[in-house]
Amino acid sequence: MSAPPGPAELSAFAEIILQSVGLDFAADKRAPLADLLRARVHETGLSVRGYLEMIRKPERSKNELRILAQELTITETSFFRNPDQIDAFAQVALPDRIAARSDVRRLRLLSAGCSSGEEAYTLAACVQEHPALAGWDVPILGIDISSRALKKARTARYSPWSLRQTPSPLRARLFKESGGSFLLDRTIRERVSFEERNLTADDPLFWHPRAFDIIFCRNVLMYFSVEVARSVVARLARSLAPGGFLFLGHAETLRGLSSEFSLCQSHGTFYYRREPAAPLPKQAGAVPASPPSFMDAAPVEDRSWFGAIHNASRRIETITARTRRPRSESQAAPESHRSDAAREAAIDLLRRERYAEARELLSALPVPLAREPGMLLLKAVIETHVGDLPAAERTCEELLWLDPGCAGAHYLKALCRESASDSQGAVQHNRAAARLDPDFAMPRLHLGLLSRRAGDSRTARDQLRQALALLDRNVGDQVGLFGGGFSRSALMTLCRTELAACGGAA
Ligand SMILES: C[S@@+](CC[C@H](N)C(=O)[O-])C[C@H]1O[C@@H](n2cnc3c(N)ncnc32)[C@H](O)[C@@H]1O
Repeated sequence: MSAPPGPAELSAFAEIILQSVGLDFAADKRAPLADLLRARVHETGLSVRGYLEMIRKPERSKNELRILAQELTITETSFFRNPDQIDAFAQVALPDRIAARSDVRRLRLLSAGCSSGEEAYTLAACVQEHPALAGWDVPILGIDISSRALKKARTARYSPWSLRQTPSPLRARLFKESGGSFLLDRTIRERVSFEERNLTADDPLFWHPRAFDIIFCRNVLMYFSVEVARSVVARLARSLAPGGFLFLGHAETLRGLSSEFSLCQSHGTFYYRREPAAPLPKQAGAVPASPPSFMDAAPVEDRSWFGAIHNASRRIETITARTRRPRSESQAAPESHRSDAAREAAIDLLRRERYAEARELLSALPVPLAREPGMLLLKAVIETHVGDLPAAERTCEELLWLDPGCAGAHYLKALCRESASDSQGAVQHNRAAARLDPDFAMPRLHLGLLSRRAGDSRTARDQLRQALALLDRNVGDQVGLFGGGFSRSALMTLCRTELAACGGAA
């Protein structure tokens, strides 16, 4: 095999991937790129330079770019993934669009970044089970850049792992088991078609204005750069009917990407509606959240950000001061100055939603600075924001090892556990965060949501009331850092809606 590519060649390769596929490989995530570049150079028999020149011309290297996209995309998915969103789809979005389209009796649904088809087929199963849609024309289209994933989608045969979130009665109704795998029922299969398509490439013939009623684009945008994600969202917005719905992944937001949507919440989850839209009917359980978009909804309170980060740093300094050998003033001052400057620059980037750059800045810090608790906390926040939860969890663990009393690290770790469907772990870490910082609203809010999901309405009401009171008093406010892009008022609206749903008045 040829020599490993140098940093400049790797950067050029990352740039071509970003331009052609939209995938953003920041400087600290390029290890898989180096292996791939080496393998493709070997396979094609070209020099590194020759190979880069070839793929710079997309019209002459379509097949090669396809292979790269296939190798680099993460296709993890499952049937009924994030069941809260599927409930909101079936119980809010579908009824609403049925009312809007009753004259033509036709709805069009899109699963963008559908991977091996589980998401598109889940939508089809909901459509099939919806009594009001009998006799309607509801084509569902799944699109993806990976031809390998689409091939699997078309066979509609799945392993038990793909069905891990499918309730048993549905599993029995929708699938036929043979030889350890599950074949999807033909009537569901026939509702869905698949197309190979790059979301980052514009095609006006496909992206017709108002073409779709509901779009699912979950766990796709998080791999794109902000600029690419913005242009993809603009395309989705154009092709969504006014009042149509957009579902993103749990860890994704439109914050900083678009102001063409209003934020909706119901069933313990968030989703978006293309503006302008009439208010949703009350009985649907969804309320337009206030304020209407993440763009407007993110007042950032600098002092609290600094507060949370400085507290983490100060606490660990107090702990380690006793064991550390005293240093001279002249040694300590420049280091602490550098540390403050790096922290402030990272916070500034975070505040301006330039997450990739903030991450890059932290990853370029020398080890002693990068391992400061305040810096690790910032790193975990950024990793959570960009949806790299495995990395966020590792960072939280490192931070908790250094400072077991860091409430923010426990809370972020709880988010990671929740996203890995480990409710017990999530509850445990949220409880630790709430115990360590009695003014911290976010873990209480999540304990409320988790308890409600587990059917424990009493605990849910208790936790949600406490979260609401803390948010209202704005004591020790950490919304800017830990609010996931939501404003204090949006989080308070969520508390009130959830409280009402579990039988408690706010
Ligand atoms: C993690 S999967 C998400 C699957 C499904 N939406 C879900 O949430 O379960 C991400 C999918 O996005 C696809 N993808 C990535 N970049 C894409 C692009 N530029 N155009 C179309 N699909 C893309 C990948 O091939 C992969 O199948």
